[in-house]
Amino acid sequence: MRVLGIESSCDETGVALHDTEHGLLAHALHSQVALHADYGGVVPELASRDHIRRLVPLVRRVLADSQSTLDAVDAIAYTQGPGLAGALLVGCAFAEGLASALGKPTIPVHHLEGHLLSPLLTAEPPEFPFVALLVSGGHTQLMAVSGVGRYQTLGETLDDAAGEAFDKTAKLLGLGYPGGATLSRLAERGRSGVFDLPRPMLHSGDFNFSFAGLKTAVLTLVRNHAETRPDFHADVARAFQDALVEVLVKKSIAALQHTGMKRLVVAGGVGANLALRARLDAATRRRGDRVWYPEMEFCTDNGAMIAFAGAMRLAAGFPARPAGAFAARPRWSLRECVEAS
Ligand code: KG4
Ligand code: ZN
Repeated sequence: MRVLGIESSCDETGVALHDTEHGLLAHALHSQVALHADYGGVVPELASRDHIRRLVPLVRRVLADSQSTLDAVDAIAYTQGPGLAGALLVGCAFAEGLASALGKPTIPVHHLEGHLLSPLLTAEPPEFPFVALLVSGGHTQLMAVSGVGRYQTLGETLDDAAGEAFDKTAKLLGLGYPGGATLSRLAERGRSGVFDLPRPMLHSGDFNFSFAGLKTAVLTLVRNHAETRPDFHADVARAFQDALVEVLVKKSIAALQHTGMKRLVVAGGVGANLALRARLDAATRRRGDRVWYPEMEFCTDNGAMIAFAGAMRLAAGFPARPAGAFAARPRWSLRECVEAS
């Protein structure tokens, strides 16, 4: 089975073709970072319009790169939600329209399920069950995953997501948007222990997170130190990253302990963070557990994870649906998605 995947939930247009027998055949991505840079964040209307411009050329490129044709596509998977309403509508309408014209079925995919399954897009994927740490720009969740479509939320953020905390902190350090990767590169040059920031909810006894206070603590720190030494911001970035990573690592290990599971899977944009990876590697190794990450290019939004999630859903027995009527679901929770399928 060949599944074409379409992702357009935020500021990346992603298209990919996945074959259940031969794996990922091709994928293409267009990032809108440059388009939104001047505004310091994603402008929804500009995002929607750009998705419209990019989808057809990206589909053509994926078909050419995989030496495939639309006739050879068995189903079209697309991100139905959550995300920006207009941006989602573009992908939904495009996928359903194309599938209708081709007489092929569609597979609406929950964006977080795409992230969640993306670490399985490797030569040696983890087996179920596993604990998943999902850390993206919009979400931070710990989940117990027992199979495709079988996700139990253990805990989640009560305010800012991990990626959002990275982006907001980067912004207040003058690093531009989205600043997560830039902030983490700056943190590599900083020294641990120069500044001590709070570890929010580290001892809350549950699997929930809260990162809004951490960002405010950075703001207070920067305001109270009229320092001009060149490595001041690097030390602040390091303190922020150390605090956030410590909370993510300790809660992930606690989730492994709580569930008795031995496998941890990390997904989402913050999963690209090297400090997080190093700390998780060490902590899981100490326990004799194992950890999986997505390929670097599949940590942030992409079409490959949507095509793959569509293919995994088919393989797990969730039926594709006839193309035609559709609704974007900007505020769709993973819990609702699991309960409905
Ligand atoms: O998964 P994703 O594309 O977003 C959502 O679906 O919400 O992840 C984007 C997020 C942004 O907040 C970005 O700053 C963050 O991932 N990010 C990073 C790194 N690379 C991307 N955060 C920390 N360290 C990185 N290396
Ligand atoms: Zn995402």
